[in-house]
Amino acid sequence: MKIINVVGARPNFMKIAPLMEAYRDFPRLQPLLVHTGQHYDERMSDLFFHQLGIPEPDLNLEVGSGSHAAQTAEIMKAFEPVVLRHKPRAVLVVGDVNSTIACGLVAVKLGVRLVHVEAGLRSGDRTMPEEINRLLTDALSDLLFCTESVGVDNLRREGVGAERIFLVGNVMIDTLLKNKAKAEASTILEDLGLPPGGYAVMTLHRPSNVDDTGVFGRLLDAVEAIQREMPIIFPIHPRTRNNLSRSPLGARVEGMAGLRLIDPAGYLDFLKLMAHARVVLTDSGGIQEETTILQVPCLTLRENTERPVTVEMGTNQVVGTDPTKILAAYRRAVGGRGPSGRTPPLWDGQAARRIAAILDEKL
Ligand code: UD1
Repeated sequence: MKIINVVGARPNFMKIAPLMEAYRDFPRLQPLLVHTGQHYDERMSDLFFHQLGIPEPDLNLEVGSGSHAAQTAEIMKAFEPVVLRHKPRAVLVVGDVNSTIACGLVAVKLGVRLVHVEAGLRSGDRTMPEEINRLLTDALSDLLFCTESVGVDNLRREGVGAERIFLVGNVMIDTLLKNKAKAEASTILEDLGLPPGGYAVMTLHRPSNVDDTGVFGRLLDAVEAIQREMPIIFPIHPRTRNNLSRSPLGARVEGMAGLRLIDPAGYLDFLKLMAHARVVLTDSGGIQEETTILQVPCLTLRENTERPVTVEMGTNQVVGTDPTKILAAYRRAVGGRGPSGRTPPLWDGQAARRIAAILDEKL
């Protein structure tokens, strides 16, 4: 049973890694790995393959960057012949990036079953490209694997049959748990001269935050105040770096002595940075989940989250982009009572194994 597994962008890599490993225990499943090439920089792609032990992709479509329409269309055009040639039993996609919907659409139009890992998450915000990708991918999928029970509820409400939905846990957390001890060997804290528990980590790359200079400027108002009290490490996404280089905000960032920009970090360095941070500020989806398991306070610089379990059971506060609110949340986080000790059900390192077992049975 050939299964084509698709990856394209950075957050896909940590989700596919445990699946590629889990397939080994199910010899009937013959995985093929296709990289669309949506992300292509060494630090956005290859580094993750090496650190996570992901096998070399069987194929790289080398599609690269582009507008949403151009990128999605190029991925579709390049992926269609791959599906025609291999005639897989299923195509498996993860997450919510353009590669996810592009390859999903190709699969179903060719009559190939589609499997979505990380199904059912909804921010309710249709201005977010990922939300559109999630809605459409789930509408097309035959088997839908959810990380949290809200995902199951959302899919049921949208009319997806219960027999197609499986609550299995979180493959991204499989990768975190597997690599946590290994990440401790990273020397990133020493390299950057950071005291454990005495710094903040920030990531920003959502178009709604970094493509709009008004919003980005307001976020920097909060950052300016925080970096006077605590160093902030800011591994910078290429989208964000490009925007800063073209805007007066770039000079403002350079003027903040406590804000330290570094290149996008590899998986292990970033995991170590998060694990020992006093607080994490982010607009990423995955980081809300990772900090929940690491029990590190997380401030989500967005108006909503598609991952509500990280707020209910985890360490996450959804604080938006208003500097006054961010600062208040920062004070609550650093003066807080400490970790709750709770973790979401099934976030136990076994999600990929559960998925592979279900695929072995159902496909
Ligand atoms: C994509 C995903 C987003 C995910 C993010 C993680 C979509 C719609 N968005 O956003 O959900 O959270 O990846 O990183 O799929 N670039 C490089 N090198 C690279 C990749 C990108 O320089 O290896 C630059 C290019 O200028 C490119 C820009 O970053 O135009 C944006 O890349 P793109 O893949 O379009 O979207 P992301 O912002 O990375």
